[in-house]
Amino acid sequence: MGGEKRVRSVAIVGAGAAGAVTASAFKAENYFERIRVFERRESAGGTWIYDANPQPELPVRPGSLPPDLDPPLEIPSNLPRVTAPDRQERFSKTPVYDSLTTNVPDIAMCYSDARFAYGPFVPHYIPRQYVENYFSLHKTDSLLELNTTVEDVARIPAEPNDSGRRDAWKLTLRKRDPLRDVDLWWEETFDAVVLANGHYSVPYIPQVQGLDAYIAKFPGRVVHSKYYRSPRVYADKRVVIVGNSASGHDLSSELVSTARLPVYQSRRSKSRWDGDEPPEGIEWKPVIREYLPDAGRGGGGRIVFDDGSTLDDVDAVIYCTGYKASSPRWASWACRGP
Ligand SMILES: Cc1cc2nc3c(=O)[nH]c(=O)nc-3n(C[C@H](O)[C@H](O)[C@H](O)COP(=O)(O)OP(=O)(O)OC[C@H]3O[C@@H](n4cnc5c(N)ncnc54)[C@H](O)[C@@H]3O)c2cc1C
Ligand SMILES: NC(=O)c1ccc[n+]([C@@H]2O[C@H](COP(=O)([O-])OP(=O)(O)OC[C@H]3O[C@@H](n4cnc5c(N)ncnc54)[C@H](OP(=O)(O)O)[C@@H]3O)[C@@H](O)[C@H]2O)c1
Repeated sequence: MGGEKRVRSVAIVGAGAAGAVTASAFKAENYFERIRVFERRESAGGTWIYDANPQPELPVRPGSLPPDLDPPLEIPSNLPRVTAPDRQERFSKTPVYDSLTTNVPDIAMCYSDARFAYGPFVPHYIPRQYVENYFSLHKTDSLLELNTTVEDVARIPAEPNDSGRRDAWKLTLRKRDPLRDVDLWWEETFDAVVLANGHYSVPYIPQVQGLDAYIAKFPGRVVHSKYYRSPRVYADKRVVIVGNSASGHDLSSELVSTARLPVYQSRRSKSRWDGDEPPEGIEWKPVIREYLPDAGRGGGGRIVFDDGSTLDDVDAVIYCTGYKASSPRWASWACRGP
């Protein structure tokens, strides 16, 4: 490969666990002329950053996928430019709840050259500190551009008759300046881009017959586990948990301490934690077949499960049904020019 074709500049999108180790590995090569890590949050840490106020008042839209929930921003013309701050929800807050601990031992979560402060299973702030410290440990903190969202990645094709050149990638970047309350927009071009932007930002709630009408009639009753922080909010409430993976298991277990018992857990499949019987205080239910907003005593709403059983007048339905990865605009980047 001729010198012109080599990758000398690289952008990393995201400063979570993946971005941290990518930056240190690239720096260790002592080869690249320019490495930049763009992170939309105010610090490194990714999934492990804790947001005390996750804004649960966001509208709940069953069945919607990231292209609808997290559409790309309109990019201003003539960059660089300073604009009024964008207020669109970008799902950048994390799902970390107060009691969250790691469910993977530290030996499996750590990089080979550094360990967690202690282990094996640790509170959520230990991996956050670890990822943040990893940047300073390797002196890659200076590569970080924080509060900066990569809004677009476009391919700049090499000139067809220039065999010595390779395609490049133009990033459109938006940095929030809280001091002036403005957004700064600009572009940078790199030989290569690493996407380390994570998978757990946009919550997913399945579409179920009657759910839209149920949400409209009882605003705030249906939420996603991304916005759950503490069982205290559910003291004496009649709660239904939907989902049986890590979030569904954790939330139903800890709600037993505060909610009205039993806590109902709607399960589609058996999880690796399940025994033959539900834990004390939890009642297992099958998948929800339908919501009837006007049924129940006083029209308080009814939930109908697949086995025909029903629940009336519940106070909260918490969907622990996971996430969909979101990369606005980027899905079509390979076939698009600048
Ligand atoms: C509730 C929960 C608990 C978990 N518990 C564990 C566990 O115990 N053990 C385990 O091993 N794994 C766990 N995971 C999985 C965990 O997410 C991964 O292990 C790992 O931390 C993911 O790292 P990442 O760098 O790939 O992504 P993330 O940590 O999500 O980092 C991606 C970063 O990219 C940034 N970003 C996204 N889009 C843009 C953009 N357009 N421009 C700029 N920046 C952007 C984000 O702000 C974020 O900081 C858990 C996940 C969740 C949701
Ligand atoms: N450290 C921790 O303790 C911790 C805590 C929470 C989350 N996490 C991590 O966070 C990530 C996300 O976990 P998660 O539990 O939020 O999501 P998840 O692992 O994607 O699980 C989604 C759950 O929702 C169910 N589901 C999906 N669609 C459904 C539908 N239409 N009807 C009924 N059920 C449906 C799934 O059932 P099926 O199994 O049948 O598909 C599954 O039980 C994982 O990596 C997990 O390990 C870790």
